[in-house]
Amino acid sequence: MASSFSTKLVFFACCFLLFTFSDKLVAGQSDKVQLNLYYESLCPGCQQFIINTLVEFFDSDLDTITDVNFVPFGNAELSDNQTIICQHGEEECKLNKIEACIITTYPDPKLQYSFIRCVENYTEDWESSCFNGAADDINTCYNSDLSTKLMLGYANQTLSLNPEHEFVPWVTVNSGPLYDNFSELVSRVCNSYQGTAPLPTQCNSTALAERKGWSKLQVSYANEATNY
Ligand SMILES: *[C@@H]1O[C@H](CO)[C@@H](O)[C@H](O)[C@H]1NC(C)=O
Ligand SMILES: *[C@@H]1O[C@H](CO)[C@@H](O)[C@H](O)[C@H]1NC(C)=O
Ligand SMILES: *[C@@H]1O[C@H](CO)[C@@H](O)[C@H](O)[C@H]1NC(C)=O
Ligand SMILES: *[C@@H]1O[C@H](CO)[C@@H](O)[C@H](O)[C@H]1NC(C)=O
Ligand SMILES: *[C@@H]1O[C@H](CO)[C@@H](O)[C@H](O)[C@H]1NC(C)=O
Repeated sequence: MASSFSTKLVFFACCFLLFTFSDKLVAGQSDKVQLNLYYESLCPGCQQFIINTLVEFFDSDLDTITDVNFVPFGNAELSDNQTIICQHGEEECKLNKIEACIITTYPDPKLQYSFIRCVENYTEDWESSCFNGAADDINTCYNSDLSTKLMLGYANQTLSLNPEHEFVPWVTVNSGPLYDNFSELVSRVCNSYQGTAPLPTQCNSTALAERKGWSKLQVSYANEATNY
């Protein structure tokens, strides 16, 4: 009797652990909503989106259901010899690369975002403003082949989009484009979540209704002439 009870107990303990563990595993592989941001560093609408809109995903519990993936290539072009030509010139190419290096150097999403947000806010003195002048890891990456490889990867991701992006910032939620309905971003993310975690309060109807007034962003079209 006693032994059968303890067998059951062991069985129960085993399977309870297994369940909790496999639950975590699934969460680890990410059942989160994939929010991809295709952008370029010097486009004003991208800066606005990164600084003012995306902050909500990192300052609230929305990050429990969302993975934000930055793809810093935007409207750049890839020439036949694999040279990247940026819409807003060399400076934009440089900052895109710096941000590609930030993404690879800081896998922690919050840290990654806070550096990218800072660089977008201080495009001229990012090194002193965001890294206290000590951006050694980032500069090492920038000056190595790694940054070029990363950029070609982002070029590939952007140029493989189906449907193609029309402007930046271009946002996809689980691969579906948001077009310019930026005020629907949070509700799209909330509605797309298929995982088991409880929905954050930002997904409640009152919270979503408050976003209806979000203003339009000044987007940069892919075929727009560069003014720099
Ligand atoms: C690559 O192509 C670009 C644009 O067509 C050109 O400006 C550049 O000189 C080329 N670079 C090399 C190394 O051929
Ligand atoms: C952006 O820069 C301004 C100064 O130009 C500063 O007042 C503001 O706090 C900065 N915001 C962020 C998010 O870094
Ligand atoms: C992206 O890379 C894949 C794999 O290397 C390649 O098959 C594909 O043609 C590339 N797509 C574009 C648009 O460059
Ligand atoms: C989003 O915006 C596009 C173009 O502005 C529009 O055609 C579409 O109906 C909007 N709504 C959704 C849910 O995509
Ligand atoms: C819904 O969201 C609003 C705004 O974030 C919050 O003040 C409120 O407490 C939330 N309500 C519920 C029931 O979670």
